[in-house]
Amino acid sequence: MNLNLQHWRVSVDDAGIATATLDRAGEAANALSREVMEELGQILDALDRQPPKGLIFRSGKAAGFIAGADIQEFTQLDSAEKGRVLIERGWNLFNRLAAVRYPTLALVRGHCLGGGLELALACRYLLAVDEPGTKMGLPEVMLGIFPGWGGMLRLPRRIGPAAALDLMLTGKTLDARRAKKMGLADDCVPPRVMEPAARQLLLSGQTRRPLPLLQRLLNGPLKAVAAGSARKQVATKARPEHYPAPYAIIDIWAKHDGNALAAPELIDRIVGSPTARNLVRVFFLQERLKGFGKESERQVRRVHVIGAGSMGGDIAAWCALRGLTVSLQDQGLERIAPALKRARTLFERRLRDPLLVRAAWDRLIPDPEGAGVAQADVVIEAIFEDVAAKHALFRTLEPRLKPDAVLATNTSSLRLEDLRTVLARPERLVGIHFFNPVAMMPLVEVVQAEGADPAMVQAACAFVRQIDKLPLPVKSAPGFLVNAVLAPYMLEAMRCVDEGLAPETVDAAMTAFGMPMGPIELADTVGLDIALAAGKQLAGGAQPPRCLAERVARGDLGRKSGQGFYRWAADKPAKGAGGSVPAGLAGRLLQPLEERTARLVADGIVADADLADAGVIFGTGFAPYTGGPINHRRAVAG
Ligand code: NAI
Repeated sequence: MNLNLQHWRVSVDDAGIATATLDRAGEAANALSREVMEELGQILDALDRQPPKGLIFRSGKAAGFIAGADIQEFTQLDSAEKGRVLIERGWNLFNRLAAVRYPTLALVRGHCLGGGLELALACRYLLAVDEPGTKMGLPEVMLGIFPGWGGMLRLPRRIGPAAALDLMLTGKTLDARRAKKMGLADDCVPPRVMEPAARQLLLSGQTRRPLPLLQRLLNGPLKAVAAGSARKQVATKARPEHYPAPYAIIDIWAKHDGNALAAPELIDRIVGSPTARNLVRVFFLQERLKGFGKESERQVRRVHVIGAGSMGGDIAAWCALRGLTVSLQDQGLERIAPALKRARTLFERRLRDPLLVRAAWDRLIPDPEGAGVAQADVVIEAIFEDVAAKHALFRTLEPRLKPDAVLATNTSSLRLEDLRTVLARPERLVGIHFFNPVAMMPLVEVVQAEGADPAMVQAACAFVRQIDKLPLPVKSAPGFLVNAVLAPYMLEAMRCVDEGLAPETVDAAMTAFGMPMGPIELADTVGLDIALAAGKQLAGGAQPPRCLAERVARGDLGRKSGQGFYRWAADKPAKGAGGSVPAGLAGRLLQPLEERTARLVADGIVADADLADAGVIFGTGFAPYTGGPINHRRAVAG
């Protein structure tokens, strides 16, 4: 075919089947930029003139099918008009694709997200290739926007509104098998047969099974009911003034059949919202964090974790889940057993497939003698928070390490400079500081002490990335970034309690602001003894709040003892009603956190303000719609 294309390759075989391969020039992954979409328009023009027997879309990238629209282009949307033009571009093009006479098929291997899935949905067939990287979803909501290129129209029709709204409102993704089970993919095949399977399905004339009656009703006469219940669900998680996009998705689906162009006022509100701007920024910050893990060819295969307590046990399980072979050492098998039990639960919950669970289980090796040290590429120490204990361990450990192994400590509060004094090569010790609960928290601080070997720091960042966490390089300083900013915030919250406010009221102020958990509940979760110790270390000599000191003295340590500021049962705090939240309370609590973040940037503990925002968001769950504490402070100051 005679087309002058930069990003697509189009071929037509002897049987008259056309294949359009997207291989976006100059990029490792495919995204639907303006140029890519324009060229797709040209391909459809050419095929209108000479209709093929069928058309298969596929990717020319090892990295997956299509990651979505080009998010860089979102940052240039400075007016509602530009937003409308961008939506129109995809909406019209994919409607056109959906209407072609010849059969079309998207061969989905690897990620197929956002605009990529909207393209696939506009095809007659979707064939999913069953391999670990295959993921389908419409995660636009995470960027504060909506799937405006036909996703809100076609996904509910394809899989029913209940499942479609769930996907669109949470940004969740489906793997190939689930996509088939839910009717999103027509079939799911292993990679080795994908080509013949695609051709066969394309020419099959097969029609799709209609949706169950209830889903058809919910997509028709009962739309208002489905929309109402979706709105209620969203309201439990996100306030419309913070996160307008999920509400817009429901409205555009329910009132305009998924056509955002019919609701210009919503385009206006979403495109112009600080939330969308901030969430797109957070997305790029996340990419920046990922970038810290990129510059190493060293693949870690074996990890050795010492200390099978709440942190070490969960770190080991997480590494095994992510495909590494892990030996887990503690003072005896009976100390390792509870960690293995938790690991089992994690594997079952995350992997589902019994074969995969079994494989992960096999990768996690209880190792009370520490035999795994000699083969490990990364050794992580997570024993008691005690300098003498850690020194004794390091002395016996160092001679057995592989020469280029990374030696890391998970310490929260001890100085790396003090810990490494017993090492023959002190420059090799780095901090790899995970957060609790390990499986939930995306951030890991990679701590660099004065004079640390940069190659070790780099290798530690690469390891963190390899296990799918976000590495944030920080300098060695008390509390690093995350705990250092949380401490003054939690202390201020407790001072409010000393002044007579109910813990419930203090927490309510911050959850209303958009924090995942209030500061008092957070203190209970961390443990009040730990909060007291951290406060002493990080509060610059200030007196601990009375309410905290009294509770610790009584042995009320929070969740772990069943009683702290709240009474805990089944890992949940029993909360009373609390009083009405005084005006300005959230601002008062945020101030010390924001000031401390700014100071840590000024002191060079974290390299710049953007990274500090990213660290606080991914390390504490700080309300993402704000774009982080420093961004929020700037916005409030105007
Ligand atoms: P933990 O008390 O739950 O577990 C420590 C484990 O280390 C125990 O099972 C103990 O038997 C074992 N252990 C002690 N000495 C040992 C030795 N010489 N050889 C082998 N095993 C030994 O402690 P946790 O909470 O897991 O903390 C561990 C480290 O992680 C500490 O440095 C702490 O500062 C850090 N950390 C803790 C966080 C938390 O939320 N608990 C968060 C981030 C870091």
